[in-house]
Amino acid sequence: MVGVTSYHITMSAKTLPALALFPLTTEVSKQSHLCIGGCDVVDVVTEFGTPLYLLDESTIRQRCREFKGEFGKRYPDTMVIYACKAFLNRALALIFKEEGLGLDVVSGGELSIAQSVDFPPDKVYFHGNNKTPQELNLALDWGVGKIVVDNFYELELLNKLARKKGITQDILLRLTPGVDPHTHQYTTTGTIETKFGFPLATGQAEEAVNQASSASNLNLLGFHFHLGSPVSEIQPYELAMELVLRFAREASRKFDFELSEFDIGGGFAVPYTLDSRVPTIAEYARALIGKLDSLISELELSRPRLIVEPGRAIVGQAGVALYKVGAIKEIAGIKKYVCVDGGMSDNIRPALYGAKYEALVANKVVRTTGKAVTIAGKLCESGDILVKDINLASVHAGDIIAVPVCGAYSIPMSSNYNALPRPAIVMLKEGGARLIRRRETYQDMMSLDLI
Ligand code: LLP
Repeated sequence: MVGVTSYHITMSAKTLPALALFPLTTEVSKQSHLCIGGCDVVDVVTEFGTPLYLLDESTIRQRCREFKGEFGKRYPDTMVIYACKAFLNRALALIFKEEGLGLDVVSGGELSIAQSVDFPPDKVYFHGNNKTPQELNLALDWGVGKIVVDNFYELELLNKLARKKGITQDILLRLTPGVDPHTHQYTTTGTIETKFGFPLATGQAEEAVNQASSASNLNLLGFHFHLGSPVSEIQPYELAMELVLRFAREASRKFDFELSEFDIGGGFAVPYTLDSRVPTIAEYARALIGKLDSLISELELSRPRLIVEPGRAIVGQAGVALYKVGAIKEIAGIKKYVCVDGGMSDNIRPALYGAKYEALVANKVVRTTGKAVTIAGKLCESGDILVKDINLASVHAGDIIAVPVCGAYSIPMSSNYNALPRPAIVMLKEGGARLIRRRETYQDMMSLDLI
């Protein structure tokens, strides 16, 4: 356990704006150390080493409550399911269980983590565009709440597997509304050419409802769409809701089907940098529920259960990546590299999507020098850059770099590239630091190899 008993706040987001991106419990000590969850980050690093990922438990719980509260107070029959792909391990699954969220899982692996903490299976939604027969059997045997069917192959396969087991499985159909969410092309899923879902425009969505509503062992409860991630505009959601609800009304006239669940996916954005402007959870909820209410009355639909699937917006801000500075390379008049002991193996997002981050020096949270540096990783690729052209405090070997908003999609997309062991993860809460995943060792990495 590492803790600090009292705080002396010497800095605030006003003097150092980047602090606002860090977890909600972030403070700065008299020694100018970054403190999170009541813990001095420098002490946490002394105990657990670097690279290290910190998660602030209060921030995670606060975001769970905000989603439930903001959507629930406007539309009581809302279910918030956490999108596990943003990051799941057993400790996190327990937190989501305690907070009363459901889970969106996309693989037998995520499903097994949920199962291992006795997560209520009826609150689990199983997504994915190519679920294997083994994964579907695992889900059916566990009694997973809903399977979100993505394509005709799966529709037929699932019906066959359920029939063999004498089960009738509740399903949703994933529809592709043909709406561009204006995000990175690699994470755009709402447009017609995507690999996901039954397109509305081609008639395949209608054929899917036809087949699903007459399948012997499937019970069609409703529709799902997910436009992409992150989606920082409200309008694409509104348009997709309208297209899918109009389709639902037509489908219920033609087929033996009534919309009892309407799942609008995830994609809620978070600010990564000081210039990002994204809606708050309350703003998303206000706009989306307003639109939903007006569509329901205009189309004379009975009120379906609403499902939202936030991932990033729940864990993003809670996570901080910590690295130790080693080599510093200055190319006079051109560039100064500050090299750290992690990089694209623990956070591929800058290299893959051109994702931008802020950073500060955790053992020296003071005003910056005004000279931009580039924070580079230690992997053997020139593209292994974590943060380009950032103003830091003057930095030397041994200093600790803290990168905020690293709670989502860093660890779960990490790799052992260059045979780097994956970082440890520590959960911080009220002055306590608890290891929730130990650091990988060289032995761990070799343990799967056979000679
Ligand atoms: N629901 C479905 C069906 C999804 O595919 C996703 C994300 C979510 C919910 C949650 O989206 P979120 O609320 O976390 O934005 N690796 C990328 C993000 C890929 C998202 C994939 N699907 C990144 O690092 O930005």
